[in-house]
This record gives sequence, C-alpha cells and structure tokens, in this order.
Amino acid sequence: MNGGLIGMTAYTTPQLIDRFGRTVNYLRISVTDRCDLRCVYCMEEEMQFLPRAQVLTLEEIGFIARAFVELGVQKIRVTGGEPLVRRNIMKLMHELGALPLRELVLTTNGSQLARYAAELKAANVKRINVSLDSLKPDRFRQITRVGDLKVVLAGIEAAREAGFERIKINAVILKNRNHDEVLDLTRFAGDRGMDISFIEEMPLGVNSDHDRAEAYYSSDDIRRDLERHCTLIPTAETTGGPSRYFRIQETGTRVGFISPHSHNFCHLCNRVRLTAEGRLLLCLGQEHSVDLRHVVRAHPGAMEILKQAIRDSMAIKPRGHDFNLAAQPVIFRHMNMTGG
Ligand code: GTP
Ligand code: 5AD
Ligand code: SF4
Repeated sequence: MNGGLIGMTAYTTPQLIDRFGRTVNYLRISVTDRCDLRCVYCMEEEMQFLPRAQVLTLEEIGFIARAFVELGVQKIRVTGGEPLVRRNIMKLMHELGALPLRELVLTTNGSQLARYAAELKAANVKRINVSLDSLKPDRFRQITRVGDLKVVLAGIEAAREAGFERIKINAVILKNRNHDEVLDLTRFAGDRGMDISFIEEMPLGVNSDHDRAEAYYSSDDIRRDLERHCTLIPTAETTGGPSRYFRIQETGTRVGFISPHSHNFCHLCNRVRLTAEGRLLLCLGQEHSVDLRHVVRAHPGAMEILKQAIRDSMAIKPRGHDFNLAAQPVIFRHMNMTGG
C-alpha cells in the first residue's frame, strides 16, 4: 500500500490515473465561495453566495481530504473565495496539516493574514500564494472594488515574519488596467525574497466589468516588458503547478507565467478541485464533475464508498480546457467557486 518513505512520512502509492495516463496527486479545496473582496476578473459586484446547508462542513472536507490522501494525493492547496473568511478555518488547517502530505499550501487574498499567518505556519502550511494586482492604493481599490491595499501589505509582512518556505505573489494582468505595473510588482516581490506569477485572465463566469478579449495582455508581452529592465533566465523548476518559471538574475527570485491562452499546460495536469459545495471538478475549464457531497451525505463515514467514487471520477477527467476569449464564456461559474 505505502509508496516512498521520505523522512518520517509515508506517502500512499498514486492510485488516481486518468484516461490520458496523467497521475492526479494534487487536490485543490475551495473551503468557501465567499470573499471579502470583489476582484473584477473573478466576481460581479453583487454576488449570490451559497446557502450554508449547501456548503460542505469542515468535518466533511476533512474526511474527503483523507480519502484523497489514501488514494495518493501528496499536495493539498486550500483556496476560496477567500479561505480565511470561513469560520473555524484554522481547525481544518490543523487537521490537514497533520495528514501525511508532501505539502499543504494556501492561496489567499492576504486580507486576514496579519491575524492568521503565525498560526498557519504552526499548522504546517509550507507555502502561501497571495494575490496582489497593484501597488497603487486607488487602483487596488478599483480592481478589488472594496479592498484596502494597506491591509494586504500588512498581511504580506506578517507572512514574511512567520517564516514560510516560500511566499508567491499572484498578479492577474489586464491591459490598460495594471499592465504598466509588471516591473514594479516584480521588484516589490524580488526585493522581499518572494516569487511572483503573472496570470492571464481566464473566462470563467459572465463579466460585465470589461471585455476580456480587449483586456488580454499575454505572458509574452509581460516578459518582453520585464526584459527591458532585468535578465530572465529560463529554469525547469516547477512547484507542481502550471507556472513556467524564470530566475531574475538581479534578485535571484523567480518570476512565473501562468498562460492558459498562450502556452497551454493541460497535458501536464495533475490536479482536481473540490468546490465549496462538494463537487469534484475534474478540470477548471470544463463542467465534468462528481457530486461528492451526495456521496458523503448518503453514506456517512463510508470511506471505501467515497474512495471508489473518487477512483471512478478519473474516467471523466477531460483532456483540457477550451477557453476562448472572443466568445461568450462557456463556463458560467465564477472563479470564486473553484479558487482557481
Ligand atoms: P503552485 O504551483 O502550487 O505554487 O500553485 P499555483 O500557482 O498553481 O496556484 P494558485 O492557487 O496560486 O493559482 C494561480 C493561478 O493558476 C490561478 O489563476 C489559477 O486559476 C491558475 N491555475 C492553477 N491550476 C490551473 C489549472 O489546472 N488550469 C488552469 N487553466 N489554471 C490553473
Ligand atoms: N482568471 C485568472 N485568474 C483568476 N483569479 C481569479 N479569477 C481569475 C480569472 N478569471 C486568480 C486570483 C488568485 C488565483 C486563485 O486566481 O487572482 O490569485
Ligand atoms: Fe476574492 Fe480571490 Fe476572487 Fe479576488 S480573486 S474576489 S480575492 S476570491
């Protein structure tokens, strides 16, 4: 049953392999669809959030996570909405942190980090990704609609003091919105020993704020802008995610590009997602899913039934996404349902 032994931790042999031979060893868990921000590329200004009864309980999430670990998942990323606005979230983080994982990691908007950074570290969270699209207070407010830059910067400082293995900044770049800040954001991260990823916007959910095709600013455009000022050295390093990384000669930190449009990475996909309402989504850009909430509520405590449902889901994992910026979105769920 048990595969490799690294240190004192026993990992389970991967049992989740899809029709295309890809091994799934990475689970992303959205613990809530709620968020205290309203980023223009992620949500509408007025959002209807899920009623409580439709959201998995923390116990259900913990149980499902255990099933995945027994099936060979070695990395769990907790996402949202904003994961740290979920009540009692730290209870779940401690539970996940005690599982035999290679790493437990978190994606957050940073708004609650000043309060939670030290405890997250204590819960065994290895790395944190923090969203930050602008260093200008007015612009930060416009992009997040309600956010306060100062609060997020204080959160990032708290995370640095807590001593995580790595902190990465995520910036979604939109033409004529924040594309002129790629160098400042790169310097901000580099000066603080943090990595940064630039992300191409994905067409998830209807977006009445801007035209996504017009706002498209490709990873190649960003790279060209950066190379006017710094030297980017290609590396084969990976965090097991879709970022292609370059090392910045001047700072020694890394800049990554997440480019679903210009450099598709679906053939390397190693992940599935659990939404806050318990849908196991087999691809971010498709609707193929299995209702795990139904499974755990129809058969409480039945680990083997749950594991079989998860194994069976591999048969419907699609080859990849069909994102098209010029057309109406085909995926009507917003990003806050999946946490990216
Ligand atoms: P690590 O590699 O573990 O650092 O994480 P990550 O960069 O994959 O995770 P994060 O939660 O910070 O997500 C950054 C961006 O990558 C988000 O916009 C996600 O939507 C995007 N992303 C992550 N996985 C996928 C994927 O499988 N497909 C697509 N299209 N985008 C993804
Ligand atoms: N396209 C690309 N990235 C997005 N994110 C949220 N919505 C989108 C979108 N439509 C990013 C956030 C966060 C990460 C989890 O996903 O900025 O960094
Ligand atoms: Fe909230 Fe993240 Fe969506 Fe922004 S991108 S609204 S911070 S869930």
